[in-house]
Amino acid sequence: MTNNVTEFPKRDDVDIEAAQAYFDDLIDRDLRIEPADWMPDAYRKTLTRQVSQHAHSEIIGMQPEANWILRAPSLKRKAILIAKVQDEAGHGLYLYSAAETLGTPRDELNQQLLDGKAKYSSIFNYPARTWADMGAIGWLVDGAAIQNQVPLCRTSYGPYSRAMVRICKEESFHQRQGWEILYTLAQGTPEQKQMAQDAINRFYGPALQMFGPPDAESPNSKQSMAWKIKRFSNDELRQRFVDMIVPQCEALGLELPDPDLKWNEERGHYDFGELDWDEFFAVIKGHGPCNAQRMARRREAHDNGAWVREAAAAYAEKQAAEADTAVA
Ligand code: 3HC
Repeated sequence: MTNNVTEFPKRDDVDIEAAQAYFDDLIDRDLRIEPADWMPDAYRKTLTRQVSQHAHSEIIGMQPEANWILRAPSLKRKAILIAKVQDEAGHGLYLYSAAETLGTPRDELNQQLLDGKAKYSSIFNYPARTWADMGAIGWLVDGAAIQNQVPLCRTSYGPYSRAMVRICKEESFHQRQGWEILYTLAQGTPEQKQMAQDAINRFYGPALQMFGPPDAESPNSKQSMAWKIKRFSNDELRQRFVDMIVPQCEALGLELPDPDLKWNEERGHYDFGELDWDEFFAVIKGHGPCNAQRMARRREAHDNGAWVREAAAAYAEKQAAEADTAVA
């Protein structure tokens, strides 16, 4: 496959001190860093890590929902779910394109995922057991994703911030469709209401963990916030999310599974119980309930796509040869 990654000036070609001062000034003035701008190696590396992990999450995140396309309870629900899964594929593609502008070809980023060297979001290592899980994933998982990703529309790297604008619009539709699935179930029979409650019980904790480890255990946050890649810390976003979902859950007539959840007048926020961080770290190390299955499916899909990549490369070669002949 062709690699259309921009050539960046070599470090020896630039006056590093002046380039660093220019970069710092852009960050201070809240302007965007663009692909051809000089940037510190560590900034490039951290963004490549975050954006590619984000892309991998979108792609792996298609699996739990794709699993329900054939079992959706109506044609309308099926069409909506197909559209949502396709949206996630699109998000992955925008994000791989944004990541590539930092200089690492997409094939290499993808290989890091296939080799198990790159992470993807912990949440996608949990199974989707019932139709109600489609509701809980839409409401809680896409809801947490929006809370985390709206500030990324103002992240300091231009291509990432622009990709996030469209992604967030689509995620907000996803969240509403999830809430609507749960609302419909909550208005149904006692069994359907219980299904919705069970799904919330399963996804509440893992959705809160999507924001990452507590600030004190987040090695990347401080520098990422100084570079304005991240605008809020993991704990700040988690708190905002809890404050948002409590009244939404009340409107559903359902409960969040946390006995410590209560309004704190002094703080002006909801207090909530400690999450199971041992479980979180085990999941991101590959020991969650579905890690092995998710990676096996991804590798299988990649292998099944080999003929498409070969055909696209052969077509590109043919086009290039025809263009050469035309010029000659
Ligand atoms: N799952 C897996 N790994 C996680 C994680 C999670 N929920 N939270 C943190 N980690 C990893 C980090 O990647 C980092 O690993 P590394 O240094 O080995 O690469 C390590 O744990 C330490 O965490 P930090 O807080 O220091 O890491 P960050 O500063 O990168 O913050 C983040 C983590 C908040 C997830 C940040 O990377 C981020 O905002 N990323 C962009 C959004 C994103 O990737 N979301 C994933 C979900 S996408 C999605 O949900 C799709 C949708 O359609 C539902």
